[in-house]
Amino acid sequence: MKQSRITFLSVLFFAVFLIIDLSCGKKEGTAVPPDPCSGITVVVTGITTNPATPGASNGSITATATGGSGFTFSINGGPFQTSGTFSGLTAGTFTITVKNSNGCTGSAAFALTDPNPCAGITILVNGTISNPTAPGSSNGSVTVTASGSSGFTYNINGGTFQVSNVFSNLAAGSYVIIAKDINGCTGSSNFTLTASNPCNGINITVNGTVTNPSAPGASNGNIVATATGSTGFTYNINGGAFQSSGTFNNLAAGSYTITAKDANSCVGSATFLLTDPNPCSGVTITVGTSINGTDPCMAPGGMITASGSGGTGPYTFSLNSGAFQSNNIFTNLSSGNYNVSAKDINNCVGTVTNILVPNLPAGPLFSAVRTLIQNNCVSCHNPTNANGGMIWTVDCNIVTFKDRIQARAVNGNPSPMPPTGLLPASERQKITDWINAGGRFTD
Ligand code: HEC
Repeated sequence: MKQSRITFLSVLFFAVFLIIDLSCGKKEGTAVPPDPCSGITVVVTGITTNPATPGASNGSITATATGGSGFTFSINGGPFQTSGTFSGLTAGTFTITVKNSNGCTGSAAFALTDPNPCAGITILVNGTISNPTAPGSSNGSVTVTASGSSGFTYNINGGTFQVSNVFSNLAAGSYVIIAKDINGCTGSSNFTLTASNPCNGINITVNGTVTNPSAPGASNGNIVATATGSTGFTYNINGGAFQSSGTFNNLAAGSYTITAKDANSCVGSATFLLTDPNPCSGVTITVGTSINGTDPCMAPGGMITASGSGGTGPYTFSLNSGAFQSNNIFTNLSSGNYNVSAKDINNCVGTVTNILVPNLPAGPLFSAVRTLIQNNCVSCHNPTNANGGMIWTVDCNIVTFKDRIQARAVNGNPSPMPPTGLLPASERQKITDWINAGGRFTD
């Protein structure tokens, strides 16, 4: 509502009155008509009807007024009319001026707006993606389909709108595609194109034949690997350099991973185990022994001479699980049972148990003397009656005290034994012969 014009007119009228009053001084009788609009405010109100569709000319304003009577109405300074209704209006701003019967005016501005063409419109953009066929290539595409309106044009990443719904020659990346309808209403979707992995669907299998080292510690094993599932393979072993051949030689026992790589760098791998042959499988070490008994009346003098066979010499030998030694002869053994092991250079071991080192048998000369003594001396020289401390029932006492036997029974020195007189010369000769032969149990 504007009353500026009313106010202006009022002020102007009053100013004119003042000017007249000043210029005429005290001139009397001049009638100044009262301002008919003084105290009158013409207030304009109205009801607007917007255009039914964008751009349409069927909007209207129906204005009413207060502040007097006999109103006439004007739109945008046009001619006054009695009706307050103005039809056929497009969107825009309109000023309605109202004048009452006294010429007092008021005005108000009204805005008519086109309806939002996009109100209630939801535009969806769907699409199908065709990714680039290889990393770095730009042959991807997106084909979109918009719905929710009609007359679509499309752009990609803010570019120019086009009629075609297909965007081609796209590299991997993220794209925004906008669909716009005839009213400029839009919808959009993001599409991400990824470079297809050339290894998708490629399964590379590595097979191989293994040849183990021929001997423990040898480095002459090998792996012959072949890959399947693609083409143009190169191979490496344990992450080393790739080579065109799948054969790897000069391998020691161990675990090896062979990787095969195709022309597109797609890889597959397999692990192979090379084992040293068991040096002892199929090997039986046989221990041979030769035994020397021991004289029961001397320091232990038994002996085992061992030998090994069936493996790879030289052998080492162990007695009763003792340390292995290269010397194959065990000496100074008392009588009894022994175990002997032989070990070859591959640590293959064979053992023979319960080897008997025997006491040596009595020799014939000793046996003759022993018989002689049993027949002539034991009655006075036994555990219950050991004259002179001598017990001749113990064989080794005969050996130990042979010099005394010789003195008493052969030489009669200092007195003969038996005390009753020396034995016949032939008996005494047995003692002499035995002593002369060495005087041992075994003689
Ligand atoms: C009838 C009993 C008798 C008979 C048999 C006898 N001895 Fe004696 N022997 C003695 C007596 C008693 C002594 C201790 C006194 C002595 O040393 O003369 C003795 C002591 C000995 C001694 C220890 C003294 C020394 O000089 O070292 C020897 C050795 C000995 N006899 C050997 C013999 C022999 C060998 C025979 C058999 C060929 C024998 N005796 C048979 C009774 C006997």
